[in-house]
This record gives sequence, C-alpha cells and structure tokens, in this order.
Amino acid sequence: MESWILDLGLERSLDNTRIAIEPLYSLAEALEAGKPYFGRRLSAFQSPPIRYALLAGVAIDALKGKPKIRVLEIGSWAGASSITLGTVIRTLGIADGVITCVDPWEPYFVPGDAAMHYKSMNVAAGTGAIQQLFHHNIRACGLVGMVEVIKAGAQDVLPSFAAESFDFIYIDGSHKKEDVSHDIEQAMRLVRDGGTICGDDLELVKGEIDEATHRDAVARNVDYVADPRTGASYHPGVTEAVCSAFVDLWHDKGLWCVKRSGGEWHAPVMPIKDLDIPVHLQHTAEIPYGVFKGHELFQLGERFVAYPVSQPLWFQNRLVQRSLEDLVLMIDAIDCIDRRRASRETGCPKLIVEGYCGFNIVQYNNGWYGFDQALGPTDIRTLVESEIEVMKCKGSCVSGISIDDVKMEVLRIVMEQQDRKLSVFQTEVGDLNQAFREVSSKADFDSSLHRKRA
Ligand SMILES: C[S@@+](CC[C@H](N)C(=O)[O-])C[C@H]1O[C@@H](n2cnc3c(N)ncnc32)[C@H](O)[C@@H]1O
Repeated sequence: MESWILDLGLERSLDNTRIAIEPLYSLAEALEAGKPYFGRRLSAFQSPPIRYALLAGVAIDALKGKPKIRVLEIGSWAGASSITLGTVIRTLGIADGVITCVDPWEPYFVPGDAAMHYKSMNVAAGTGAIQQLFHHNIRACGLVGMVEVIKAGAQDVLPSFAAESFDFIYIDGSHKKEDVSHDIEQAMRLVRDGGTICGDDLELVKGEIDEATHRDAVARNVDYVADPRTGASYHPGVTEAVCSAFVDLWHDKGLWCVKRSGGEWHAPVMPIKDLDIPVHLQHTAEIPYGVFKGHELFQLGERFVAYPVSQPLWFQNRLVQRSLEDLVLMIDAIDCIDRRRASRETGCPKLIVEGYCGFNIVQYNNGWYGFDQALGPTDIRTLVESEIEVMKCKGSCVSGISIDDVKMEVLRIVMEQQDRKLSVFQTEVGDLNQAFREVSSKADFDSSLHRKRA
C-alpha cells in the first residue's frame, strides 16, 4: 500500500483531515444499534476531526492530575466535543467529573447566513432532532452520568453561575462578535486559577487578515468570510472577540486556548504530540491521501473515498472502493472518459504552446509533450497512457519535464529521422551507382561486341 501512495505522490497527513461527509454507517443504523452518529445528516459533524484530536490533547494537558473536574461547554450541537471532553475525563481516571453543556438547540442562523450548511443546521435545530441526537450520542458513549444539560442561551444562564466554579471552559456557541465577547467575559469570571479557557473557530488571528475586509465583516455580523490577504476563510466575529480579549494565546488549526495564572492569561505550553482522533469520531474521520487526477482521496475506515476537487461537498459524486489501487484505476477510467467527451465537445486541441521542427509542443498536467504534426489533430486529453507509450515507441510523441527537454527530444528524433533518410538515400545512391555501373559495363560489352562483329 505504502509504495502505491509514494508512486502516486500521495502522502498521509493527519493535519489535513477534514470534515467527514459519509460515516461507515447511517443515522438510522446508529440510532437502532445504539452507536454514536457524527455524519453528514443533521450536520452532526461540526469541525474537522483534527480539532477534536487537538481538543483532547489540550484537555488532557489541562486536566491531568486533578481529582475533581468541572467543565463548562458553551455550544454542544450533537455532542462531538462534549464526548471528546468526557472521554478525556474517563481516560484520565477522574471519578468526580461533570460537564455542563449549555445550548439552546434553537435555529440561530439568520437568512443572511445562507450557506447550505447553516440552513441544514437551522432545520436540525428547529425540529428538535439535533438535541435528540445529542442525548442519543451521550448515551451511546456511556456519559449520561457525567453530562449535565442546560437548554438555554449562554447569555441567559452564565451570569447566574458562581465565580471560579470551572476548571475548563470550552466556547463553541454563537459566532457573533458580541456573543463570543460575552462568553469570554463570563468564562474569565467562571474559570478557577490554573484553569483553562479554550474555543473553536479561530482560523485566523488579527495581524494575518485584511483589516478593511475584517472591519466590514464584523460590522455586518457576517458569520464566515474569505480573507483576501491569506485566501483562507474565517469567522470574523470569533477572531475579533478572542484577539481583543487575549494577547498571549495558543491557537492551532482553528482551536484556541489560554490558561489562567492569578489574574493573568497566558498561552499554555502545549506538549501535544501523537494526536489521535477520538474514538467516537473515528467512524467518520477521513484520512487524506492527496490529490489524483482532479480527485481528493481519503481513507474512511476500511474503505477509500474520492471527491472531485471542484465539488468537494457534492457527495453524490464521491467514489468508493475497497482498495486505494481500485480507486485510482476507477478515477483513471473516469478521467479518460471525461477527456474523450471533452475532445468530442471541443474538437481540436487547445493546449498547443508552439510548433517546433514539425512537432506540436503541448503542456498538460504539469508535463510537456511533443506530437508529430503528421499525426493530424491530436488531443492529449483524449489519450490514455498506453496510447501515448505506443506513439513514443513510434517516435511520433515525446515527453519531458520542461519545454527544453521536449525540444531536445524532438531534435533527437528529427536528427535520427534525417540520419535514417540519409542512409536510405546513400543506399539508394549506392544501388543506383551499382545499377549504373552494371548498365555501363553492359553497354561497354555490347559496343565491343558490335565493334568485333563489324
Ligand atoms: C458549532 S455548534 C457546536 C458544535 C459542538 N461544540 C461540536 O463540536 O460538535 C454551535 C452550537 O452553539 C449553539 N449556540 C448558538 N447560540 C448559542 C448561545 N447563545 N448560547 C449557547 N449555545 C449557542 C448552537 O445551538 C450550536 O449547537
């Protein structure tokens, strides 16, 4: 398997693990079998799996060695982060641990937040389905005794909690600047000395972003915006609130964290290594292998999945195979069909860079090719590897990693052809000479005979 990955230039990297789209089993199967569900349905899976791996790492670091733990979570949705934190407490062997989950589970995106994801979240919250799934997931992971649920907005309940009553506070509720600022302000009051405040959705910090775009997005309360400076998308309300509250903070892959020391807040020293995606999310975590012919490849449990790069969330277009090899072969076949179709639709090649010594020089897919013009219109997008190899053997196609490489090869082929023509010519001239000699010696013989007869 590894050699395939290397041959294809594909690399495993946990860092890029992304939001899973299709878990190994369906929502209905999960509900029936008492398994946790964090798939595409009800937008149950909210953040890239790597963030939960990081959250677990941060929580282990913050909570280890404490005999009694009180955790506050603002924004729980289907419970992916609550269960991550609960699993940490259980794994650390802390018997007295409570996680208070505060969430209104009501539609909270306004019509301006028109993305499909938000619409589907509003529906999941409006029908009550997501809160039911939260309870199912907590039960399925055996955390009912550890989790306390308060169905309310943070602004309605946090002010009533006693000061310094939590060891760890995780903020992942509303993304609006005023709401995040409120949650942070309350968290600073509620966390004990030595405790930790942590949060989600800090993709970019101030200093990295385009200021004008950012100011405008915060003023308009936009949930998610593309930053023209970095090209990345981020939550402007979260960036504004977090970076206004804390100067010295740790953040990585969207997760952020500060530790209280007396009256001060500092970035903790994070000895996080060997990250693991929490067990309850492993059935959905897609491990990326890289990109192959316009498809992103992932491993999902025992299966291998590919999504078209141009439509990463269009899961109807996903390809699934039991092995990476089969998946790659399938993509290759689809690519071939697409190229043939493109050629039928578009007619002639459009990729020719220049003509050179009777060859068309073509750039395609990071490679350079030369096609003998004698072949007539040739569209590389319609050719499969084996066809190109046959052409190469016949000397009507060359390839290289640069245009100069290809030109050298073309020259070599042209010179070989000239040599062959020359040697054919020489043979022909030799034959002609021979024939001429034969004819002239016969003529000599005839004339001497003629002379003798005379
Ligand atoms: C991104 S989801 C949380 C995802 C969850 N932490 C996870 O990792 O799976 C945001 C949650 O915040 C909740 N929420 C929205 N406004 C809130 C508020 N004012 N107070 C508390 N929770 C809020 C939403 O109902 C939603 O469940």
